[in-house]
Amino acid sequence: MRTGVWLVGARGSVATTSIVGALALRAGLAGPTGCVTELAELRGPALPSFADLVFGGHDVVATPLVKRAEALAAAGVLPGRLVAALADELATVERELRPAPAGGSQADRAAAIVRDLDDFRRRHELDRVVVVNVSATEPLARPHPAHADPAALRAALAGPEEVLPVSSLYAYAAVTAGCPYVDFTPSTGLRLPALRALADERGLPYAGHDGKTGETLVKSVLAPMFAMRHLAVRSWSGVNLLGGGDGATLADPAANAAKVESKQRVLGETLGYQPQGGTRIDYVESLGDFKTAWDLVTFAGFLGTGMRLEFTWHGCDSALAAPLVLDLARLTAAAHAAGHRGPLAELAFFFKDPLAAPTHALAEQWTRLCEFTRRLHAGGSDDQPG
Ligand SMILES: NC(=O)c1ccc[n+]([C@@H]2O[C@H](COP(=O)([O-])OP(=O)(O)OC[C@H]3O[C@@H](n4cnc5c(N)ncnc54)[C@H](O)[C@@H]3O)[C@@H](O)[C@H]2O)c1
Repeated sequence: MRTGVWLVGARGSVATTSIVGALALRAGLAGPTGCVTELAELRGPALPSFADLVFGGHDVVATPLVKRAEALAAAGVLPGRLVAALADELATVERELRPAPAGGSQADRAAAIVRDLDDFRRRHELDRVVVVNVSATEPLARPHPAHADPAALRAALAGPEEVLPVSSLYAYAAVTAGCPYVDFTPSTGLRLPALRALADERGLPYAGHDGKTGETLVKSVLAPMFAMRHLAVRSWSGVNLLGGGDGATLADPAANAAKVESKQRVLGETLGYQPQGGTRIDYVESLGDFKTAWDLVTFAGFLGTGMRLEFTWHGCDSALAAPLVLDLARLTAAAHAAGHRGPLAELAFFFKDPLAAPTHALAEQWTRLCEFTRRLHAGGSDDQPG
């Protein structure tokens, strides 16, 4: 199943690590540690192989991919020997990257994105192209009446106003080009009624939001534990320190607010109440792609006895995120091939702020993911094929 993976933000840390990782796996230069779809519970014939994946994408910067990979190697995110061994393959992917369309109306830019996607699909004779947003986090979207209805949206896009945030313009173009869509970021993306309606019309599946790779991953394991033991969480405070492009973006208070909102959902929805405390994200340039999160949890047990839990997470963000990007591309492609449409709630396992998911608890999400993947391998879909 020849599958295109079109990365929005294709020259960023997560995208570059995903591309290098997939090329290394295909060449047999690395093992699949971190790729959930290579576990015995999920592996199987419905998923495109790593060799089936063809990469392309858009970015606003023009730094050559190999330079980005070398910079990540120098920072200890990627093994330098892999970047050297894969220089030719990276040059091949480089030819598939396009500048983010600029100028004109939003309708013009969307049409240019659609053309890039169609050309990519045709050039490589791809069965489908999954569009994955790994671009910089943007601020929460400003509401607009055209967000509610596809016809109003189409009309508004042709006007002079910037009706959609950039992530949603890419989502609109993806849907228009008939591509399933995955949002690995907290940005708005496809989460607008008009875009969901368009995706439904086209019979497309989509997944998001915001990859769950660090502090929130740990929270989604620990919060259900407190709930199941009937312990009362009084406060849960977290401080995240990170550098890199993502850290620099999150230094902007508006982008920071979007990320913090995405990280907070798990507690309220798992515990059934919102404990005191919040999550803070600070930019520390020298940390680069390596993130530190400190969390302090205070809780009460039998007869009100107070206790506390602290944890420290040191993660290499792109190394944690990239295998999940590959997993999501493979699973979403398989879901599309099986005729699934609408939000893929079964992929909640991968996200901080999952779409249409009944639970934030990692163990339950894992069970649902395993059942879903088993059905895909057995050749089944619960949805009406679109
Ligand atoms: N690394 C993780 O663990 C993790 C987890 C969850 C979510 N994310 C999200 O993934 C995204 C990428 O993270 P990163 O560390 O790779 O960031 P990064 O800053 O290294 O990469 C972002 C890329 O997006 C590009 N970009 C910006 N505006 C664009 C536009 N309009 N069109 C196309 N490209 C554009 C930038 O030029 C850059 O190359 C962020 O939104 C981040 O919050 C990352």
